[in-house]
Amino acid sequence: MTIKKIGVVGAGTMGHGIAEVSALANYKVSVVDISWDFLNRAKERIMESLNRFYEKGQIKERPEDVMKRIEFSTSYDIMRDADFIIEAVPEIIELKRKVFETLDNITPSHAFLASNTSSIPISTIAEVTKRKEKVIGMHFFNPPPIMKLVEVVPSKYTSDETINVTIDLVKKMNKIPVRLKVEVPGFVSNRIFLRLMQEACREVESGEASIEEVDSTARNKLKLPMGIFELSDYVGLDVAVDLWNVIVNSGTAEDVKCEMYKRKYEAKELGVKTGRGFYNYPAAGKYKKVDLPISSKVDPARLISLAVNEGARLIQNGIVSAKDIDTVMIYGFNFPKGLMQMADELGIKNIYNHLVDIYSKGYRAYRPNSLIEELAKSSKGFYD
Ligand code: 3HC
Repeated sequence: MTIKKIGVVGAGTMGHGIAEVSALANYKVSVVDISWDFLNRAKERIMESLNRFYEKGQIKERPEDVMKRIEFSTSYDIMRDADFIIEAVPEIIELKRKVFETLDNITPSHAFLASNTSSIPISTIAEVTKRKEKVIGMHFFNPPPIMKLVEVVPSKYTSDETINVTIDLVKKMNKIPVRLKVEVPGFVSNRIFLRLMQEACREVESGEASIEEVDSTARNKLKLPMGIFELSDYVGLDVAVDLWNVIVNSGTAEDVKCEMYKRKYEAKELGVKTGRGFYNYPAAGKYKKVDLPISSKVDPARLISLAVNEGARLIQNGIVSAKDIDTVMIYGFNFPKGLMQMADELGIKNIYNHLVDIYSKGYRAYRPNSLIEELAKSSKGFYD
């Protein structure tokens, strides 16, 4: 099946980036949103991004010419001849289901329908369509033009053809696909991200460290491109709280009681998009690297301990391998090396001891996974 035209529903942070990536891969693109305000803003942002690439010689084609492949509309009519549609509307399950119902009615029967959801189970979205086998998860990372990873998430209904077409499309977009074997709420990326946020939050709320100290360790010791709170602000605290709730409410991850994220969300301080979150930014929508102290007492092994425990669970449940987790963190979050590799280097015994310590303080989510326990006892690593 040859894909010629890609439809994108939702022109926000992710949608406009996905449209840009699709046009850069030489596809015709149709973008739908509910208002021209959103669509015009998306056009501006795509142009800004294309100009940056062009000025640095990273693309040869003129931005205006790339733009000619993208059409915008407030009507789904432009989706009538699309072959592959990617939905990127807000993480509200009823809204997603409504969009998929509409797409199912309006798009040609051969068309594949993908969702860029960050945590909602694909099968619950697929169930509203009459083509469940053609529905799949295609999870991009912010900012899509820069981040290399796309998680490919089949539901229990997705056909092999749909999986293959999607993986092929990801590669044509010059991205790296990681395919999940089993659908799991939050996928791999956001389950790990949630665990990093939870430990960061716990350290601050329990008085172990300040926000800046946690982020200093993330940036200066672990060498991550952003601190954990900084990244949460960048992604949007509404998105962060949504994925936190979806994963915890699915019953597949024990919660870590921590109110800071919720309080920011309720105060509508949503991070970069509102100009204020855990940090202040120059203006709404304008990210500037935050200033952090050089030194920090936060132990890097402690900061990643809960995330590594989650990784071990995903490996043990046959969802992904240690290498897949590392690919996700390197290409989806620009980590300088994989999380599981970091764990090996910092020492599994060390990670295990932090888990035991925090668990003993009453945080049940930190109960060490049996794989970690086994590795710690035999002084082995994930890559041994
Ligand atoms: N289009 C084109 N170029 C862009 C761009 C865009 N949208 N955004 C950034 N760039 C370019 C800049 O021009 C710059 O290029 P240069 O190095 O050649 O000058 C380069 O990218 C770096 O950008 P900046 O100098 O502005 O800032 P940083 O050095 O801080 O890098 C970053 C920005 C690439 C975003 C980096 O901080 C990073 O990798 N952060 C981690 C992002 C991350 O983890 N994303 C995943 C979030 S989780 C997610 O999305 C899943 C969801 O479901 C929650």
